[in-house]
Amino acid sequence: MEKIIVKGGNKLQGEVDISIAKNSVLPIIVATILNPRKITIKKVPLLEDVLVLVNLLRELECSVEFSDITGDLIIDTSNLKEIEPSNDLIKRMRASFLIVGPMLARFGRCKISMPGGCNIGSRPVDLHLKGFKKLGVDIESGHGYINTKTEGLKGGRVYLDFPSVGATENLMMAAVCAEGVTIIENAAEEPEIWDLARFLNSMGAKVEGAGYGRITITGVKELKETESFTPIYDRIEAGTFIVAAAITKSKITINGVNEEHLMPCIEKLTEVGVKFKIDGEKMLVDGTEDRFPVDIKTLPYPGFPTDMQPQMMALLSLTNGVSIITETVFENRFMHVGELVRMGANIKIDGRIAIVEGVKQLTGCEVKATDLRAGAAMILAGLVANGETIISEIHHIDRGYTRIEDKFNSLGANVHRIKI
Ligand code: EPZ
Repeated sequence: MEKIIVKGGNKLQGEVDISIAKNSVLPIIVATILNPRKITIKKVPLLEDVLVLVNLLRELECSVEFSDITGDLIIDTSNLKEIEPSNDLIKRMRASFLIVGPMLARFGRCKISMPGGCNIGSRPVDLHLKGFKKLGVDIESGHGYINTKTEGLKGGRVYLDFPSVGATENLMMAAVCAEGVTIIENAAEEPEIWDLARFLNSMGAKVEGAGYGRITITGVKELKETESFTPIYDRIEAGTFIVAAAITKSKITINGVNEEHLMPCIEKLTEVGVKFKIDGEKMLVDGTEDRFPVDIKTLPYPGFPTDMQPQMMALLSLTNGVSIITETVFENRFMHVGELVRMGANIKIDGRIAIVEGVKQLTGCEVKATDLRAGAAMILAGLVANGETIISEIHHIDRGYTRIEDKFNSLGANVHRIKI
């Protein structure tokens, strides 16, 4: 088992390079199932979640080569077999449920185990299934499995009760080669949706309106050869390092930002007192000024991202005054509150609302990463805590950040991984 030890007190300086977005790469890897050809996805970060999908594709007899030097992921799904993916791979990562749309497009069938919930919520897939039914899919479920089959995917109109990222992605992929036109109303608008559409269209699909509430997909007979594809930068990793500069009252440069994708974070952190200078993909972050408490409500994009909520809570725990954080996307995304309170934070929870009263100092102690972004928040709190913060369950962190300790140490932090 491994732990991360953070010694608090160092200021940060210098530059950090942001990786390609986990939440863009994962659906794009799955989308290669739609196109029985060799495709290269570039600059893919070596994340646990990426490795889960690589193993899943290999289990389905696709060929996958990965160079962890260049980050080139070369996938060839020509030999894809209609094999039921193993439970443990599906259970390990919810995003593996995204294979249903592409498998239906390739074989007209897909039997898969229900993805489990996780620490942040039950994470049902009812919106995915409701949408598939509108595209001519028959669905049976029972004994922990979902059985989907279709005589042929037909375009249809789908209204999503909630702009679910995963449901939008699954339905987009199912629709690209369906007969006729599919319209997804109240679709997710996250940048990663736009990026998946960009990838699908690079293979000859006809997806319009991605990134806005209504997406129109005109089915095509088949997809074509595409050159290599480079997904967008990870706006949540970038946001995590912006908070690192703010919490340590430092100035750093972040390479690999998209100002539009980061707009919700930039707006909110500007209210906190952080100063930004952006030049193309380079962002200078100045967190040295006084900080102010702010109220945050997480919402689907372009609202404030739920994936930045734990990191902001760490920052606001040390910001003089009272901040109110409302988590509207997941029903249980306050697991990190108990860990921050162990470090001396003053946070009270009332349902989906956390009331954060800033304290002068946090103290380092043993804490755990309760989910991916909560783990990042523990590192951020440890950067300024008095003494050492020892973080366990760090496999959560490795799912979404590549060697996070190296990136923090390159900025002058004192973060080490130990095997125990
Ligand atoms: C994606 O998860 C991201 N994961 C999550 O990032 C992110 O937090 C989330 O979108 C919201 O932005 C990936 O892209 C791999 P949803 P996803 O479907 O698709 C409910 C991270 O830290 N819902 O938009 O699973 C669901 O329960 C991870 O990188 C239904 O009720 O999110 C949740 O409350 C964490 N029925 C809400 O919608 C459904 O059929 C948002 O879920 C589907 C979802």
